[in-house]
Amino acid sequence: MTVRHFLADDDLTPAEQREVLDLAMALRADRLARRPLDGRRDAPGAVAFITDKPTLRTQLSFAGAIADLGGYPIVVDGNLAQIGKRESVEDTARVLGRQVAAIVWRTYEQDRLRTMAAYAGVPVVNALTDDYHPCQILADLVTIAQHRGGVAALPGTTLAYVGDAGNNMAASYLLGGATAGLHVRVAGPGGFQPDAEVLARAARIAGATGGSVVSVTDPAEAVAGADVVATDTWVSMGDDAAGRETVFEPYQVNAGLLAGAAPDAIVLHCLPAYRGKEITAEVLEGARSVVWDEAENRLHAQKALLAWLLDEGARS
Ligand code: NVA
Repeated sequence: MTVRHFLADDDLTPAEQREVLDLAMALRADRLARRPLDGRRDAPGAVAFITDKPTLRTQLSFAGAIADLGGYPIVVDGNLAQIGKRESVEDTARVLGRQVAAIVWRTYEQDRLRTMAAYAGVPVVNALTDDYHPCQILADLVTIAQHRGGVAALPGTTLAYVGDAGNNMAASYLLGGATAGLHVRVAGPGGFQPDAEVLARAARIAGATGGSVVSVTDPAEAVAGADVVATDTWVSMGDDAAGRETVFEPYQVNAGLLAGAAPDAIVLHCLPAYRGKEITAEVLEGARSVVWDEAENRLHAQKALLAWLLDEGARS
């Protein structure tokens, strides 16, 4: 039996990502269409959701998704569990693997997640690390599909991300977007650029899917003619906020910047949003914004992902 994990966006091949997105669209229409965790006599029906950082949307949407799949979520407060401090990640992984069908973990270093995956024996899902936020990008792709002609229309779509281009969201837009065949442009100030290894990895994927990736410093250049404009907080969880506002000011998503995008461009923000900082209230509340659909789509995308991972394990 092969256990599949989702630790970074490119853990799914383009064809596999497409299967997950198609399933997510189907689950939008029929919430209970798949119940792989229901009535399992030979394996646990529980899924652990562990969080070492603040969470609202991610916890809610995973708990709802797990329940809809016929299972039950066990929410573990990372401050109480103290994984890696009170007990090693390796030992925790082996204990959890005997109790639950899958592990969803929001934590700091990507290595913690890799170790969990190496020892758990059940699927491990990245619910945000310092490096990636791949579940959010699946939800964003569902949202783009919802508003722009379905999953089949994703390849060739241009997505511009402006703000902290060195953070987890930017890395996931690059990798997940390239996997979907998108043209991804990220723009951030000097010192807040994507990791060179991530950019190169995304470029390799884009080469195979017909997409492209580019990293620039000029926000207007990134946004020019874009179909989708995305941003994120200027200060991620765990970051030092000092001095950031001045350097990020030209990267605010406002009416002026948006005027350079395609006339029917949609606006994404993973939330929480800081109005007047990375995005104006006018844009966030405006006609182009699809952020509430995007928040809802966390549920559908993650449900599809979990169902797919559990199916893959059962098939192999
Ligand atoms: N880049 C943000 C995403 C929040 C959902 C953070 O890591 O805090």
